Amino acid sequence: MGRTVKSVGITGMGSHLPERILTNYDLESIVDTSDEWIRTRTGISERRISDADTATSDLATAAALKAMEDAGVTADDIDAIIVATATPDMAFPSTACIVQSNLGVKEAFAFDIEAACTGFIYGLSIGEKFISTGDAKTVLVIGAETLTKVCNWEDRNTCVLFGDGAGAAILREVESGWGILASLLGAEGWKGKFLTLPAGGSRMPATLETVKSGKHFIHMNGGEVYKFAVGIMPTATLKVMEKAGLTTGDIDFIVPHQANKRIVESAAKRLKIGSEKIFMNLNKYGNMSSASIPVALDEALEQGLIKKGDNVVLVGFGAGLTWGSCVIKWSR
Ligand code: UT7
Repeated sequence: MGRTVKSVGITGMGSHLPERILTNYDLESIVDTSDEWIRTRTGISERRISDADTATSDLATAAALKAMEDAGVTADDIDAIIVATATPDMAFPSTACIVQSNLGVKEAFAFDIEAACTGFIYGLSIGEKFISTGDAKTVLVIGAETLTKVCNWEDRNTCVLFGDGAGAAILREVESGWGILASLLGAEGWKGKFLTLPAGGSRMPATLETVKSGKHFIHMNGGEVYKFAVGIMPTATLKVMEKAGLTTGDIDFIVPHQANKRIVESAAKRLKIGSEKIFMNLNKYGNMSSASIPVALDEALEQGLIKKGDNVVLVGFGAGLTWGSCVIKWSR
């Protein structure tokens, strides 16, 4: 007997950002850079920085509590916790298990996924499958990062780009034909070398030498990642709309990964979509990897930019290199 496939939507959102702000002007006294360079090349003006004693799970837990309140669910309702992060508290236990303990969720499974900046979209797509097949009723999906802890503050090519934060969503069954209409995930692993954090894993275990040579920090070939991003963002958007049986004309709102204003503008131009339909808040937060999309989505909702019935596209790319897109017929 086949299983009934249920429609799944986001029924609650929440986000949490550390209070401390690091502006471009502050960065001018740390590395050889300028507010002008950072703003014109990326669109970023400031970013949030977590304290020394704040870990990714702390930001994730705070965002989750807000999403749970927004959705009207309690810890007892949650069947699964998925945390997308490239900066877990530690190798194990997973950050999702730490969040589970923080929230007092007793009967659930919990795991992390590592798809870097695309992680939240991967998480939504995975969570949707558990609910649509009837294996879970309520799934908590979180994108959370403390990237500023793995930035090399002597490398102006990377340290000006990233910030810390967390965003969370509650997924549940929604009325048939609403919620996630389609999602699409991809990876081009052979391009992985363009964005890495090389040390601390099994390939290059932590030694005094790896620490001294800065191999526990982010290493990036910005130009190559940029090239990948400007190609994949419009393609992933077009393809997911096609998968949902829609066209780009049916898009009401896009929440893209917040890496670089120029990448988003280039995608908008290729898709022929007006800037009023595209949300950007990277000026305030920089690139928060897996947290960028859920934080942006939460802010767009708060600002009343998304209404019931809108076709909302989430689209992103990141280390891996990975990419993903999803279209949601907003159901609340
Ligand atoms: O979530 C995925 C994560 N990564 C990304 O999304 C990154 C995608 N790539 C980008 O966003 C852009 O490639 C960057 C913002 C990283 C760089 O912008 P760009 O326009 O590609 O600059 P560039 O790397 O070609 O560098 C141009 C110049 C270089 O100087 P020279 O060699 O021309 O003299 C850099 O050394 O700008 C210099 N530069 C800086 N100058 C001042 C690089 N970083 C800085 C800086 N301040 N922070």
